[in-house]
Amino acid sequence: MNFTPSSTEQFRPDYHFTPAKGWMNDPNGMFYLEGEYHLFFQYYPDSTVWGPMHWGHAVSRDLVSWEELPIGLYPDSLGYIFSGSAVYDGENTSGLGTAENPPIVAIFTYHNAEAERSGSNDFQSQGIAFSTDKGRTWTKFDQNPVLPNQGIQDFRDPKVSQQVKSDGTKEWVMTLAAQDRVQFFSSPDLKNWQLKSEFGAGIGAHGGVWECPDLIPLQSPNGDQKWILLVSINPGGPQKGSATQYFIGNFENGTFTPDDTMIRWLDYGPDNYAGVTWANLPTEENRTLFIGWMSNWLYAQVVPTQSWRSAMTVARELSLIEINGVLLLKSAPAKELEKLRGVAIKVNQASNLPSQAVEINAELDGSDTFSLTLSNELGEKLVINKEFGLVSVDRTLAGKSDFHSDFAAIHSAPMSWKAEELRIFLDASSVEVFVNGGELVLTSLLFPNSPWKKVEFHQGIEEGKVFDLKNSQQ
Ligand code: FRU
Repeated sequence: MNFTPSSTEQFRPDYHFTPAKGWMNDPNGMFYLEGEYHLFFQYYPDSTVWGPMHWGHAVSRDLVSWEELPIGLYPDSLGYIFSGSAVYDGENTSGLGTAENPPIVAIFTYHNAEAERSGSNDFQSQGIAFSTDKGRTWTKFDQNPVLPNQGIQDFRDPKVSQQVKSDGTKEWVMTLAAQDRVQFFSSPDLKNWQLKSEFGAGIGAHGGVWECPDLIPLQSPNGDQKWILLVSINPGGPQKGSATQYFIGNFENGTFTPDDTMIRWLDYGPDNYAGVTWANLPTEENRTLFIGWMSNWLYAQVVPTQSWRSAMTVARELSLIEINGVLLLKSAPAKELEKLRGVAIKVNQASNLPSQAVEINAELDGSDTFSLTLSNELGEKLVINKEFGLVSVDRTLAGKSDFHSDFAAIHSAPMSWKAEELRIFLDASSVEVFVNGGELVLTSLLFPNSPWKKVEFHQGIEEGKVFDLKNSQQ
């Protein structure tokens, strides 16, 4: 089965993943195997608002064109299938495959809606399922749940990775959101889990519940091995509603120790949530790939799309950078996006846009302020600028906004260092602004009443280009 999204629907993006129909939220269970990037996602096929959660499924060979496959996991008597991850169990530690054909194991949260309604607080637990046919079909483990609830109401979103212990042996580590903390569990076989530690009391942003954590090893620029803990939070983000914070530190013997108490945000835009990284990427590529849900719980269920709701962000490569003595996470657009580049149009001050799927590149003139706009013939405009040390995306006049009172807003991010170049990805109803290759990122949804026609550079930009990214395969 191959669903082809209708490209005629207004706001349907071209190179971002959207389900052909129905509701989507968080990315789930992402793994790479034999040339395919798998993306599962929180999915409710029967409506365009949130409902009983399934895991929808899509695959891509290049991270920019996606094929939607049949649903991977359906709700069952233990509950809806909430967010989680998947790993390649290459040594068949789970025994759910064979040595010759090791399984992919998905680890997810069961959410028992009936138990929730009855007022109990133990309605979330962790279950597993496995696939021995490259993720095409899944069998749930017959002794689920593998990690029962321990009296914590919000107990969800397991992200599992395999790690090497100090004695050289391997273990599975689960990072799990528990209310407004992260808990770490370990397991030899993905079936038996033991609590190792808890992190989060009195540190970081706590304006809402913690969700969708991810623990990622990355090298700092000086060669030290660091551990990054991503934690999505809802509400309590810097632009209202949901957002993703992260901590940088060390992870040893099942315990995460942060280097400092600074609050860091992965993306300063309002619309990048619940993102996590891919498992089992080819080691020779040595990259950490991330994708987020391009929306915000504030208004996700009322945005003006018709047959579907929500897209994913573009895939991003995460790395550590040091700026003014502070370590930060850089999110660069995955290099595969460059392959989409069609004709380049040189822009001096203004240019018409060749399509609604474009990348705009701008080299800044060293003044550390800039301003550019996208506009249409209705007088609607989107302004992206930097002044007084703040990079802002102003969507107050960028089209439809009456569906939610918080939508029309200016979203700003502090940037104390110099902005040198911009890469802006527009795709029908979203804009992703990468400053200095992703040292600072803002992701925003937009719903213009008529397609954007023109880009204009107002100040601070030395030269620019517009690339048509219209995906010829769709
Ligand atoms: C995050 C989240 C997760 C949960 C899922 C339910 O957006 O709330 O914590 O598993 O969505 O769809």
